[in-house]
Amino acid sequence: MKRILLLTAISLFFTRCEYAKNQTSNNTKKSIEYKIDSLLKIMTIEEKVGQMNQYNGFWDVTGPSPKGGSAELKYEHLRKGWVGSMLTVRGVEQVKAVQKIITEESRLGIPLIIGFDVIHGYKTLSPIPLAEAASWDLEAIKKSASIAANEASASGINWTFGPMVDISRDARWGRVMEGAGEDPFLGSRVAEARVKGFQGDDLAADNTIAACAKHFAGYGFSEAGKEYNTVNIGTSTLHNVILPPFKAAVDAGVRTLMNSFNELNGVPVTGSSYLQRDILKNKWKFNGFVISDWASISEMITWGYVKDKREAAIKAVTAGSDMDMESHTYIQELAQLVKDGVVSESLLDDAVKRILRVKFELGLFENPYKYCDENREKETIGNKENNDGVLDMAKKSIVLLKNENNLLPLKKEGQKIALIGALAADKDSPLGSWRIASENNTAVSVLEGMQQYKGNSLVYKKGTDVIIGEATFLNEVKINTTDKSEFAEAIDAAKSANVVVMVLGEHGFQSGEGRSRTDLNLPGLQQELLQEVFKVNKNIVLVLQNGRPLTINWADKHIPAIVEAWQLGTQTGNAIAQVLYGDYNPSGKLPMTFPRNVGQIPIYYNYKNTGRPVDKDKNVFWSHYSDVENTPLYPFGHGLSYTTFKYSDLKISNPSFLIGDEVKISVKVSNTGNKDGKEVVQLYIRDLVASITRPVKELKGFELVELKVGETKTINFTLNNEILGFFDNEGNFIVEPGAFMVFVGGSSITELEADFELK
Ligand code: BGC
Repeated sequence: MKRILLLTAISLFFTRCEYAKNQTSNNTKKSIEYKIDSLLKIMTIEEKVGQMNQYNGFWDVTGPSPKGGSAELKYEHLRKGWVGSMLTVRGVEQVKAVQKIITEESRLGIPLIIGFDVIHGYKTLSPIPLAEAASWDLEAIKKSASIAANEASASGINWTFGPMVDISRDARWGRVMEGAGEDPFLGSRVAEARVKGFQGDDLAADNTIAACAKHFAGYGFSEAGKEYNTVNIGTSTLHNVILPPFKAAVDAGVRTLMNSFNELNGVPVTGSSYLQRDILKNKWKFNGFVISDWASISEMITWGYVKDKREAAIKAVTAGSDMDMESHTYIQELAQLVKDGVVSESLLDDAVKRILRVKFELGLFENPYKYCDENREKETIGNKENNDGVLDMAKKSIVLLKNENNLLPLKKEGQKIALIGALAADKDSPLGSWRIASENNTAVSVLEGMQQYKGNSLVYKKGTDVIIGEATFLNEVKINTTDKSEFAEAIDAAKSANVVVMVLGEHGFQSGEGRSRTDLNLPGLQQELLQEVFKVNKNIVLVLQNGRPLTINWADKHIPAIVEAWQLGTQTGNAIAQVLYGDYNPSGKLPMTFPRNVGQIPIYYNYKNTGRPVDKDKNVFWSHYSDVENTPLYPFGHGLSYTTFKYSDLKISNPSFLIGDEVKISVKVSNTGNKDGKEVVQLYIRDLVASITRPVKELKGFELVELKVGETKTINFTLNNEILGFFDNEGNFIVEPGAFMVFVGGSSITELEADFELK
């Protein structure tokens, strides 16, 4: 009886009709706030805490209800309405089942928000995020996220734990594959594109999902690139490098943020009021919600920051962690803490309002089953349109690192081609890490892609395995370091070939979460194989598959053509074959510096000048190593094309500007080769003297330009105050007068420069 009365009360506040009406009226936001307040008034403390509790999927929800253990507990909590969200439950049938329990059996029937790691596609996989960033093609990246949202939402999901917007300068860290690389400006633009792609123009549409910018903040600066390690960075790096992509995501309307496993200068970020309240919620006025990372609330105990779950709950909720992912801390502790008067109920109200707001915006109250249409699920997942979309993205993500004597593109006829390397025939590894919803072995392999070009004779030989046994998301990958039994066959095939294509690199599960490495050479016996093959045939095209920059000095010195092909997802082989055969002219540019060796890490293009940048006295006392040069192997922004481009006529509209003025810059770019192509025109600045030292170069603009053979285009950039300023050590944005340099070119090793004064 009580339940019926309450449900009636709720329905008075937001009947379907009223909700639908408000969705289209101008006061949507206002009406949502009214509904949230109304609902909050009738919620018990336990129900509020329940909204702040997220559980991982726990049993085959369409089967019999669980008996015993944590599954039974979670099931009970669902029925009581003590769960606000679930993750990794997927597929219409499963999602429908959990929504049915909560909406029909719990007192208030508040629908769940269903989260999932849609990191680079759902079932149809696009390239890993680092690869996509290499396209510098924001429209394509947005499209790729919208394809992922379309598939995920057709499968019952309404919230992705993406994009990861962590800047990282450390290729040892396995999770660089999930981000957009080392640069805050590129990272910010990519963050916006991904948020917009996932969320679309209308979050209530049934093919868009809420996005989640993660990991707030600093995770990409884990010391020594070691996973889950401590982070110690200065305030300038925090404000100028780490936070900008998060701010860009917030400005693009991201509805959630995830905090992180790391501490920042001694405070686990999950318990950081400075980050979550002062900056995110107060300064940036973010009104969505923050989810913890998996058990990061209770891990504050292990960090030695709090002594037990009770203290962990106090710290996290006070700091503004709104939802607890799978640590069970809130559900175990928070209600009692409120009753004991230790935690104010207003903290719960703030968190719950944020969570309900996103649920209302998604339209879940209107229809909890809105993402649960079996027909749509069947028609959408893996359809041709999605495959065409990820193929397009895959081609755009490829970076041509080197191409001596125009070895590439390959001739389409009359050639004997030896294709070598275990990764060349691998249908699993190119799917990369984070592909929980996809099926194993569903990528088009390079072998399959190349077999479609029938004019040449193609022989495939593995040469050597990269890994031993099966690699999975949960297992440590085992590398083959002993078995050379198939070397001879591969070398033999190479002897008689006109061109050898070698596909080498990392297995897809060698990068990603928990996959930090101290050695970034080609894993296992691949380097040896490469050198052995080179002895018999120097005409080698090296195709790299990897989730992070590798150290490939030998290859750079000896191998004439090198293609960085990352892990490109479902359509990998088709994309690579089209690039190798010149049906697609590559235009990708590195979003992360390639070091010469691991000792150079962290290495990045926007470093500080230091007091001793050059060997001016011809002695040893300057900023350098004595065993390797300072420059990287391949700089940030580097990438070639099958055509060539020339930059000229860099012009700045005036020699000096007043603070507040816009600085207009133009440059001419010409296609001087004999193939139509695309170029990423990059603009960098240097603020020569400032109250906080500034990097020697900072990317501040880029444009992807298509140029036909012989064509010249003028590219215009506008630098406003937002671009010319920086954050001081208190996090205040400032613009200072003084001299600036401007650099333009096709990589961070720019070709043209000019200067101006800001007064
Ligand atoms: C990762 C998050 C991820 C979460 C849920 C954690 O281990 O750090 O990025 O979203 O798991 O799968």
